[in-house]
Amino acid sequence: MVYLNGEFMPISAARVPVMDRGFLFGDGVYEVIPVYSKRPFRLAEHLKRLRASLAGIRLANPHSDAEWAQLIGRIVELADFPDQQVYVQVTRGADGKRNHAFPKLVRPTVFIMTEPLLPPPVEQRELGITAVSAADNRWLRCDIKAISLLANCLLRQQAIEAGCAETVLFRDGFLSEGAASNIFAVRDGVLLAPPKNHLMLPGITYDVILELAQQHGLPHQVRDILETEVRAVSELWMTSSTKEVLPIVSLDGRPVGDGKPGAVFARMYSWYQAFKRSVMRAGQDG
Ligand code: PDD
Repeated sequence: MVYLNGEFMPISAARVPVMDRGFLFGDGVYEVIPVYSKRPFRLAEHLKRLRASLAGIRLANPHSDAEWAQLIGRIVELADFPDQQVYVQVTRGADGKRNHAFPKLVRPTVFIMTEPLLPPPVEQRELGITAVSAADNRWLRCDIKAISLLANCLLRQQAIEAGCAETVLFRDGFLSEGAASNIFAVRDGVLLAPPKNHLMLPGITYDVILELAQQHGLPHQVRDILETEVRAVSELWMTSSTKEVLPIVSLDGRPVGDGKPGAVFARMYSWYQAFKRSVMRAGQDG
């Protein structure tokens, strides 16, 4: 079942008008929320980022956090699989005509669906994934989780066509993020993360990784990371709500470190799994 504008229905029954600005202009924002054992993970943080994205595109939030939590909770309940990725999308709705300017009366389109959340294949964790790099040619508001993902799709496709899993993006000589993930590096045993700003999405998983580093006393720095530095680090990771954390073992065909998942990754991976288990056991959403 999915939720569309006030109703729960089978996905085959869900319809949006072709004049929807999401369809015509990519005028909307979204969230992807991981759910473990039917418990949404970091829901409050995802809803906070949704609020920020909506404010970023000047679209009024159609629901309070309590209402969102209820709608998402219902979609989660209705699905018959325990681990899920809930997708939430809000667009600026349909207008009578195609006009770049906002409609006078905005009736947003609100859509929620869920799909099974499958952990990345064990080989990806044990052997690592490969990546290519590209110039980050996206707009300058990458902090908004916008549905207009054309640049991200083109960039991710470059990786796929090179037989790789992710594209690592550099802007003006600095690491920004991945086509659909945040990127971390390890240099001399220190975990490095680019600072949150308008050039990257403030990842919810990114925050979890830094909190775990803090908790476990792993030295870490949040700072600008030069492209030249990235090419010499001992470890590179990608993180996202659907992939959690994965080691990148080659970049543009050259090995990262010794070309195997690193020791710091192994520690972070086990902290992440233990953290997930502990919040689920405690019945909290992390
Ligand atoms: N994408 N950066 C970009 C460009 C992303 O698209 C994503 C996630 C992230 C990681 O954010 P988080 O840890 O909050 O998932 C960073 C989602 C999963 C997607 O588009 O499907």
